[in-house]
Amino acid sequence: MDGTWQHTTVLLNEAVDALVTKPDGNYIDATFGRGGHSRLILSRLEPQGRLIAFDKDPEAVAVANAIEDTRFEIRHEGFAGIAQLPGASATGLLMDLGVSSPQIDNPGRGFSFRADGPLDMRMDTTRGQSAAEWLATASVEQMTEVIRDYGEERFAFQVAKAIAARRQERGPLATTSELAQLVAGAVKTREPGQDPATRTFQALRIFVNAELEELQAALEASLHVLQPEGRLVVISFHSLEDRIVKQFIAKHSRDEVDRRAPFAAPKPMKLKAIERVKPTAEEIAANPRSRSAIMRVAERTAA
Ligand SMILES: C[S@@+](CC[C@H](N)C(=O)[O-])C[C@H]1O[C@@H](n2cnc3c(N)ncnc32)[C@H](O)[C@@H]1O
Repeated sequence: MDGTWQHTTVLLNEAVDALVTKPDGNYIDATFGRGGHSRLILSRLEPQGRLIAFDKDPEAVAVANAIEDTRFEIRHEGFAGIAQLPGASATGLLMDLGVSSPQIDNPGRGFSFRADGPLDMRMDTTRGQSAAEWLATASVEQMTEVIRDYGEERFAFQVAKAIAARRQERGPLATTSELAQLVAGAVKTREPGQDPATRTFQALRIFVNAELEELQAALEASLHVLQPEGRLVVISFHSLEDRIVKQFIAKHSRDEVDRRAPFAAPKPMKLKAIERVKPTAEEIAANPRSRSAIMRVAERTAA
């Protein structure tokens, strides 16, 4: 295991305080990363408590495998896999979404436009298509849709056309620098303090890892896996993720009327919204990557 790449856990105490309501409960950390949240959860649990963690990334799983604690288990799979856990079995579910600092900082993973590396971007390097593989064959329409919808990039069509033209002239893109340069040429405006490649890289990362689909599936599964009064704690880092979490909690925090049977008794709400928390100024100063974090907490109702 390479110990060079460190991750500073965001909203560490805030998340664990909101999550762990019973020291003998069963908890899920859906995004182990480097285990900052997991270790604090374990420190709050009594011997009967349990923690199951998930991560797609084999490097994260290797770190988790080094934890010697019979209360802890790591699963190398996408967190939509929580749907397979027994119903009403979890006292709390934590999701700290997105990429970890080791993933961004290691040029070999291909997530960053700041350092040259292979254009990979897969969290799970053992399966699936890399960004380079997808960009080698995707149509201009497919690329435009992904870069526009997941990157909110106004020049998505221009970027997609530039990628297709480059493919024809010199073969497919292979590295992060090649893509970053191409995007810089296609994006005609500049936002202060933001590299023009930011949006396209975000879009490809979300697409390659099916991030929003997995998030939606895991949120739905949380209703199945959480016990009454079980806590759902989700930390997101950009507006696309936070919108999904916010809308999910809002939808299930009210009684559900069946429009086809307006006189039937509404189905009782499944969640109670508890709080929305942002990092303090001190945390942002110490860890600038925390600045866009938003944590939402909800509680499963008895229904
Ligand atoms: C922000 S980091 C989590 C950091 C962790 N809380 C800590 O304190 O070290 C996000 C982690 O979640 C993993 N991840 C992201 N989406 C995932 C998914 N759909 N299924 C499983 N793991 C996922 C990433 O591989 C990454 O390791």
